[in-house]
Amino acid sequence: MIDIIDVTKSFLSVDNSRLQVLLQVNFHVNRGEFFTILGPNGCGKTTLLKIIHGLLAPDSGSVLIQGRPVSLRDKTRSFMFQSLNLVPWKTVWDNIALPLVLMGQNKSEIKEKINKIIEFMGLNGFEKHYPHQLSGGMQQKVAIARALVTDPQILLMDEPLSALDAYTREVLQDEILQIIEKRGLTVLYVTHSVDEALLLSDRICILTPRPARIKDIVAIDLPKPRRVSLKNTQEFSRLRKIIWDKLFS
Ligand SMILES: Nc1ncnc2c1ncn2[C@@H]1O[C@H](COP(=O)(O)OP(=O)(O)OP(=O)(O)O)[C@@H](O)[C@H]1O
Ligand SMILES: [Mg+2]
Repeated sequence: MIDIIDVTKSFLSVDNSRLQVLLQVNFHVNRGEFFTILGPNGCGKTTLLKIIHGLLAPDSGSVLIQGRPVSLRDKTRSFMFQSLNLVPWKTVWDNIALPLVLMGQNKSEIKEKINKIIEFMGLNGFEKHYPHQLSGGMQQKVAIARALVTDPQILLMDEPLSALDAYTREVLQDEILQIIEKRGLTVLYVTHSVDEALLLSDRICILTPRPARIKDIVAIDLPKPRRVSLKNTQEFSRLRKIIWDKLFS
């Protein structure tokens, strides 16, 4: 589904030197796979996700989506930014409608799709609220609804739950698991949380500190369907130790 081939990226620093961020990153993501990128602060995770979405160009290397070079015009992907990017002066309804409006869809089509996704995400009754009138968890749900409303095949999520308290985070982890199960999406996910990565992922890719290279890719063969309660099992603890050791070795 997604091929990342020899991707290398640097940025120009303020002193005109080059900051090397990604170094020959290679991996393949299968259709329907939940693939998580785990790595230290500032190593280049967001940069990598932006390159995979076509928002940034690599210095060298390439990204193929279903065998074709990535293009922003292709609407089969949705990107959830690290900051939610909800528009503060737009209601929940209008925030979710935004990608459909930008795609030029007609009003009745938009209405039908939004009704469906609002029902699916349990946001009924909050359509006319503005983002500041919602809890953090609900804002997150609106951002997820906006990412899903275009019915993407691929979802790129950059630390979508990192700003939440532990309880809301677990509730939404369960919700993400259920969404993925129901929709069969291919997901590229970035997180700092080892537990979150283990719970959600089919495979976890561990990056080195900047410049990010792939340190290891670990298959997580925990049984499915997964639920948050899995975190209390011995198998989960065993995998947690393996990932921690790889992160800090
Ligand atoms: N547009 C840019 N111009 C210059 N430098 C940039 C730009 N975007 C990112 N960087 C630098 O690239 C490095 C990697 O940034 P990136 O946001 O990809 O890291 P990250 O792994 O997502 O970090 P975090 O865990 O904090 O989210 C950082 O040192 C950052 O300052
Ligand atoms: Mg980031």
